Amino acid sequence: MEKAYEKILRKYEKEEGNVISLLQDLEKEFGFVPEDAVYWFSHRLNIPASNFFGVATFYSQFHLKPRGRHIITACVGTACHVRGAEPIVNRMKEHLSLREDEDTTKDMYFTMDNVACMGACSLAPVIKIDKKVYGNVAPDEVGDILDESRGLKAR
Ligand code: FES
Repeated sequence: MEKAYEKILRKYEKEEGNVISLLQDLEKEFGFVPEDAVYWFSHRLNIPASNFFGVATFYSQFHLKPRGRHIITACVGTACHVRGAEPIVNRMKEHLSLREDEDTTKDMYFTMDNVACMGACSLAPVIKIDKKVYGNVAPDEVGDILDESRGLKAR
C-alpha cells in the first residue's frame, strides 16, 4: 500500500495538500479511505488527521471501511418508505446474513447503502445493484434479485 501512498503523495506535495482531492485519489485507488493512509498523509503533509476525517465523514462519496465489489442501493425516501422499503431492506439483510450494524457481506461481494431518493419515485420501492435498477420490488423478490446478481439465477 505504501507504494500507492508515495505515488499520491508526490502529486500533493506540489499541490499544497488539497484534502478532498487526496481523499478522492485514495478512494479511487483502494475503494475506500484506509485509516492508516489518513495518518500517513497527515504526518507527511503536516495536515491534522482530523481534517481528513472531518471531510471523509461529511461527504458520502468517501468510505472509511472496505466495500464490497457490488453496491446495493436501497431507497428509503418517503415514496419508497410508504410503499414498503423497510421490509425490503430487512429481507435483504436476512438474505445477506448482515447484522443491523453491518453493511458488507463477509465475502466482500455486496455492500448495502441507503439513499433518500433515487429520483424514480413512480417505481417505488426502488433498489439498485450497481447500475441496474429494480422498481416495484416486493420483499419476496429480494432473494431472486440477489441470486441474479450473483449470476446464480436468471429472472
Ligand atoms: S423516494 Fe425512492 S425513488 Fe424517490
